Amino acid sequence: MPFPNSSARTQRHKLILAATIIPLVMLVVVVLLVVIIQGRKEGPSSEILLEWRGKGTTPYLREIVLGRCYNYVATVNSELRNKDCLKIWELFENAFMYKNPCSITEKDYQPLMDMASHPIPCNKSLFWSKTSNLVHRYTKANQDFVTLEDTLLGYIADGISWCGDPSSPGVNYKSCPKWTECESNPGTIYWKMASKMFAEAACGTVQVMLNGSIEAGAFRNDSIFGSVEVRNLNSDKISGMYVWLMHNIDGPQSEFCEGRSITILKEILKKQKIRVFCEDNYRPVQLLQCTRNPEHIACKACS
Ligand SMILES: *[C@@H]1O[C@H](CO)[C@@H](O)[C@H](O)[C@H]1NC(C)=O
Ligand SMILES: *[C@@H]1O[C@H](CO)[C@@H](O)[C@H](O)[C@H]1NC(C)=O
Ligand SMILES: *[C@@H]1O[C@H](CO)[C@@H](O)[C@H](O)[C@H]1NC(C)=O
Repeated sequence: MPFPNSSARTQRHKLILAATIIPLVMLVVVVLLVVIIQGRKEGPSSEILLEWRGKGTTPYLREIVLGRCYNYVATVNSELRNKDCLKIWELFENAFMYKNPCSITEKDYQPLMDMASHPIPCNKSLFWSKTSNLVHRYTKANQDFVTLEDTLLGYIADGISWCGDPSSPGVNYKSCPKWTECESNPGTIYWKMASKMFAEAACGTVQVMLNGSIEAGAFRNDSIFGSVEVRNLNSDKISGMYVWLMHNIDGPQSEFCEGRSITILKEILKKQKIRVFCEDNYRPVQLLQCTRNPEHIACKACS
């Protein structure tokens, strides 16, 4: 009699053992699987950002772009008061967030460009190359002219950098690719597209402020002006281009209107059937240079 009893007890023990061990083993397996899958998902990729040689995304990017946009439509150009700045920011971030910053395409930015672009009155477009500081001081003082940075697209992005990263949080604040690392980076594509649209929109007389103190020549065909803007001017709408060739007030005077690079520019524009007028040290701009150098000989009333 003890035998079957004891065997029954063993049986019960085995059942109890199985009932506790099987779920335990299953639990361990599930926990292990979860740990492994989580590890794959947010292991190295979420903590290790891609590394680049350029400046990272400007802190407070969202606040800056949104704030500039509201400032622009509310106080700088109230004709644009109906632009939706929140939507513009959304399209801006959608263009680059969570993307590899070396594979940005025009398609990424097209919705933003369509949404934020606006017409520019004829005769007002002012292009520039290597005269950033002077040209923007000039357009601040003279409302008759508009540079790219005085349009909504130029205004919201001026002087800041940004790029995405495939891993969380989708923005790289540490580093962004330089132009030399890859051309299809968020900044380069943005400025090329905005410059192209700015050039296409130009009508009437247009002007460009170039730097006559650059030794290599005032006009470079690989600059944004030379490679993007000049090529996208619509000659049917443009009656002529005025070149303002500015020297640093203290020199050097490396190139004048008859110089080699200006001649190349004239030839390119002649092929596009656009007439060119060039002026050395365009006086209204020189007078602005004089506000900081009033004693200079070029600044005397009858020099
Ligand atoms: C642009 O300039 C041309 C020539 O100077 C002038 O005839 C025309 O009326 C101007 N257009 C506007 C919109 O100011
Ligand atoms: C010309 O370029 C030099 C070097 O980039 C710069 O320091 C200078 O301010 C520029 N001059 C003008 C008139 O913009
Ligand atoms: C720029 O000019 C150089 C020399 O004049 C020429 O070799 C080159 O092809 C030009 N580049 C472009 C993009 O037109």
